[in-house]
Amino acid sequence: MKLKICITLGTRPEAIKLAPVIQKFRNDPDFSTFVVLTGQHKEMVAQVMEIFNLSADQNLEIMQPQQTLTDITYLTLQGLEKIYQQIKPDLVIVQGDTTTAFAASLAAFYQKIPIGHVEAGLRTDNIFNPYPEEANRRLISQITQLHFAPTTLAVENLQKSGVTGEIHLTGNTVIDALLTVANNEPICEIPNLNWEENRMYPPTLPCEGGKFRVLLTTIHRRENWGQPLQDILAGLKLILDKFPDVALLLPMHKNPTVREPIITHLGNHNRVFLTEPLDYIQLVGAIKKSYLLLTDSGGLQEEAPSLGKPVLVLRENTERPEAITAGTAKLIGTKAYSILNSASELLSDSQAYEKMANAINPFGDGTAAVKIVKIVKDYLKG
Ligand code: UD1
Repeated sequence: MKLKICITLGTRPEAIKLAPVIQKFRNDPDFSTFVVLTGQHKEMVAQVMEIFNLSADQNLEIMQPQQTLTDITYLTLQGLEKIYQQIKPDLVIVQGDTTTAFAASLAAFYQKIPIGHVEAGLRTDNIFNPYPEEANRRLISQITQLHFAPTTLAVENLQKSGVTGEIHLTGNTVIDALLTVANNEPICEIPNLNWEENRMYPPTLPCEGGKFRVLLTTIHRRENWGQPLQDILAGLKLILDKFPDVALLLPMHKNPTVREPIITHLGNHNRVFLTEPLDYIQLVGAIKKSYLLLTDSGGLQEEAPSLGKPVLVLRENTERPEAITAGTAKLIGTKAYSILNSASELLSDSQAYEKMANAINPFGDGTAAVKIVKIVKDYLKG
């Protein structure tokens, strides 16, 4: 009898970080693997599934415009109850700290199905920052049987949290995903993007021909909505004012709450590209082509160092201090002048730049998914 694994995911980062895990489980004849999408994200997950050539077995299609955390939680719980009852998985796999991951683990717990948690043990120790992710991952840890920790610090965090279940150090699956794309796929350079399709503003293409240093920026976090986002946008403008050779590439998240202020503040600037969300291949190409990254994304903090790019983190705290310790990322907050000063240093001081660009990636070596499959096999057959 094959072991039944159900891998549940809902958002783009979950899709990227679970893609290598899904591939490894599907290629292993001991397992029968079901992939269930909650549909928390639609277009942004579809892009990733296509790139990794993955199909889903079920889709709850819960997404609504301006969805609340309550909407996501109850629709996921309700939908997964039936699906888990039908499939009767031996183990459910969730990833990270989204509300999909939390609700999917709770749904499994209610049916006493063991849970494997990929990227377990990240902590900021402030349950409101990031919100709601810090609480989500803590809650998941309390009901998980197999914790797949990406780093030794994550292992220690789990030990300190007094969790039950087995803690395993696996590395982060994002490196597996990144290496697959970077090695096997043709990398799109920024000028080769399909601008007609992707870009919205402005009407000309200012960074063609390598004339400009490109800053790649992404912003989406809930705790940055409102004033912090205004401050970030003011900081980005200050950088553009000070450095006429800098262009900003800003792929916008689909969420209108972040998208509208961005368009209002930067939409008309002639060295700013606002684009639709880039697909993963384009994104990896954009990282390679950029000079440095300014972002509140966790995944980019893990990916950019593998490609030798410094990351300035637009947040007050981070659950990835490994990147800061290794010297590949710097936490700069959301205040306009702090953003200007930190970016200025890297744009003017080549030594400071090289130091960050050449630091070693602390997050993994691309073998996390293989380890996870083996651990699950030992656990279920043991
Ligand atoms: C979610 C996760 C966050 C993760 C982020 C990655 C939670 C609470 N938050 O935040 O941890 O870092 O995903 O992107 O789980 N939308 C679309 N199409 C899409 C995706 C989103 O139109 O494909 C729009 C919808 O209007 C939706 C809104 O974006 O209502 C917000 O999506 P939501 O999943 O609620 O929050 P994110 O900010 O994406």
